[in-house]
Amino acid sequence: MSAFPKIFVAGATGLLGGQIVKALLDRGAPVRALVRPGADEEKKRSLTALGSDRLELVEGDITDPAERLAEAVGDATTVISAVQGGPDVIVDGQANLLRAAEKAGARRFIPSDFAFDLTKLDDGDNFMIDWRRQAAAARAGSPLDVISVLNGAFYEVMTGFMGLIDWEQGTLSHWGDPDQPLDLTSVADTAAYTAAVALDPAATGTLRFAGEVMSMRQFHDAVQRGSGRTLELRHLGTSDDLRAEIARQAAVAQNPFDYVALQYQWCMVSGKAKFDRLDNERYPDVTPVSMTDFVRATSPAH
Ligand SMILES: NC(=O)c1ccc[n+]([C@@H]2O[C@H](COP(=O)([O-])OP(=O)(O)OC[C@H]3O[C@@H](n4cnc5c(N)ncnc54)[C@H](OP(=O)(O)O)[C@@H]3O)[C@@H](O)[C@H]2O)c1
Repeated sequence: MSAFPKIFVAGATGLLGGQIVKALLDRGAPVRALVRPGADEEKKRSLTALGSDRLELVEGDITDPAERLAEAVGDATTVISAVQGGPDVIVDGQANLLRAAEKAGARRFIPSDFAFDLTKLDDGDNFMIDWRRQAAAARAGSPLDVISVLNGAFYEVMTGFMGLIDWEQGTLSHWGDPDQPLDLTSVADTAAYTAAVALDPAATGTLRFAGEVMSMRQFHDAVQRGSGRTLELRHLGTSDDLRAEIARQAAVAQNPFDYVALQYQWCMVSGKAKFDRLDNERYPDVTPVSMTDFVRATSPAH
């Protein structure tokens, strides 16, 4: 029998969820991972390849009737959600998962927040973050202890999805003050902190972590050092200019996902969603990778 309580993970086949499952198993916890019926076989194999007899896969969807979903949660005491999707998943689905967790008798719920400080933002700043804040409002009154884990931006997002680096052109383009501090964490380190929180009986409230707090200028230095490439640092405009660019794109976009990367960037470079303090010291056994080492290991320049 494990010394740890069982942890339920929804979104286990995802980028972050898979790493959370691994981090929980590495710490010795038993894990029950939710896998959607018809989930990608390759993604399922990456879970079973973890080769742990403490890992149980259960089929289900967070939009299933709460009674059925409660059976999937079973005897887990903590439910972690690492799902991604639209309001049907983030607002309604997570509310349903919370109800299922309550029915199953779980005690704690970690929602799929994993962002910069969403408590400091206003509606309209970022439509995907709005859904997370709506989900938080819908949890008011739940008997479960809700713990929100915040990590700033993934290193992977800064070097990828955000579209800052153009390896072919040899440029790193950014908006806003190049000296504005930004909170950044790798996916693996976010997962390690989440596992530490889930297994810490004293954890409560909103906890904020960062692998590194660095400005765009320092990010540029780290990317150059890690990749061995020289990149021209291009300034695209102020954070107010970025806000105006988002409004311009929003007025003509067919799909809001066309400009959501810019909304994420604005929340960071404006400083509005910056963490006021970090909780890293709660878990000194988590030693986050530096941006330089991360880029050294992952950049296509090698
Ligand atoms: N801070 C940052 O820079 C940053 C960047 C990216 C993501 N995030 C956050 O991290 C969290 C996870 O994102 P991710 O990138 O890991 O997402 P992802 O790779 O797209 O994975 C999403 C997971 O959710 C599952 N899922 C979706 N709808 C579901 C449903 N109805 N029922 C059950 N499972 C469902 C997916 O299952 P299938 O495999 O079956 O589709 C998958 O396992 C999100 O909160 C996201 O906003 C943060």
